[in-house]
Amino acid sequence: MDAQRPLYLDYMATTPVDPRVAARMSECLTRDGAFGNPASATHTYGADASALVETARAQVAALVNADPREIVWTSGATEADNLAIKGAAWFHENRGRHIVTSRTEHKAVIDTCRWLERRGWTVTWLEPGADGRVEAEQVRDALTAETIVVAIMHVNNEIGVINDIAAIGEVCRAHGCQFHVDAAQSAGKLPLDLQRLPVDTMAFSAHKTYGPKGAGALFVRREPRARLEALIHGGGHERGLRSGTLATHQAVGMGEAFRIAAAEMPEEQRRILALRERFATALSKLPGVHLNGHPTERVAGNLNLSFAGVHGDALLLALRDLALSTGSACNSAAGAPSYVLRALGRSDALANASIRFSFGRWTTEAEVDHAATRVAEAVDRLRALSPLWGDTAIDTARKVAS
Ligand SMILES: Cc1ncc(COP(=O)(O)O)c(C=O)c1O
Repeated sequence: MDAQRPLYLDYMATTPVDPRVAARMSECLTRDGAFGNPASATHTYGADASALVETARAQVAALVNADPREIVWTSGATEADNLAIKGAAWFHENRGRHIVTSRTEHKAVIDTCRWLERRGWTVTWLEPGADGRVEAEQVRDALTAETIVVAIMHVNNEIGVINDIAAIGEVCRAHGCQFHVDAAQSAGKLPLDLQRLPVDTMAFSAHKTYGPKGAGALFVRREPRARLEALIHGGGHERGLRSGTLATHQAVGMGEAFRIAAAEMPEEQRRILALRERFATALSKLPGVHLNGHPTERVAGNLNLSFAGVHGDALLLALRDLALSTGSACNSAAGAPSYVLRALGRSDALANASIRFSFGRWTTEAEVDHAATRVAEAVDRLRALSPLWGDTAIDTARKVAS
């Protein structure tokens, strides 16, 4: 634990770059390294950079069992989501203009779909169940002859819940529409086998997996071929799907991060799950604590809890020595109750009382013990001051908890 800085428990917002990744990246920047333009075909500087980018592409592909030719570099998952959804919408617009997605997607998907909605596409917004999952039957019921793309995320960034993308993908295959999956929060945390999964496009982000910010990729299936219009035009890089000089250091960083994830994921996820369970057990004595999202179908590193009678912002303030968030980093600034928790049917009061705890590569047992003690103290203290937390509320919460 670093006494100078708050204890970092916000690994779903972003992760520190692994020092092994940073070391590889720094080899691609200066005069003595692979600084060349990977598209320079006339000299060894270009060839060296290009070789590194292609090794990195193979490393990204290997984590998800894809063909390296199916990986398109982007600036992150946001761009990958935009390319997959707008790209499919434009390519297929003569076939139909209907999109299916869910209310609990990341803003990168939601705002992309809203943008298309304003331009004449019809969007069906699925409501997840109270456990936060979108079911394949819901997708099947929403499909029409006009549907050209379905976008459902693998793991939710606020509540960590895992959707059954294999089942949803089967439904899309049978219907003949493209299936896009935002896997920013699952790559490196869950096994992904794109040779078997019926997914057409999949978005990845490097910085959720101990790689650099501003780096990501889109998987674009070759067989059966996913069809997309490019959004960024220029030198025709990335098979014409995404022009722009490749950022060698970013690609190399993402490749190394995904290589490490492939090698260490099973052991790392077991360790992180044990930490989460230790933390949850320590907090289980506290009444009025509600788990948001499915109890078991969730990634190891996430625990999203609502503390009845306490406002999440007040709790964050009381816990300034812990780096936490009330939801997604992108939404925290909005100040509104989490749209994800509201879509699950949580009341505004409970949605406002939520905190996302996320654990990662450098979280230790001592840290989770310390965090649990601090959270329990702060919740007790705030409840003692809260008019929302009178005797009746305590009795009810105790009954619910027992
Ligand atoms: C599920 C999900 N999708 C997309 C993104 C955006 O990723 P990036 O920051 O790489 O653009 C994030 C990260 O905030 C995310 O959690």
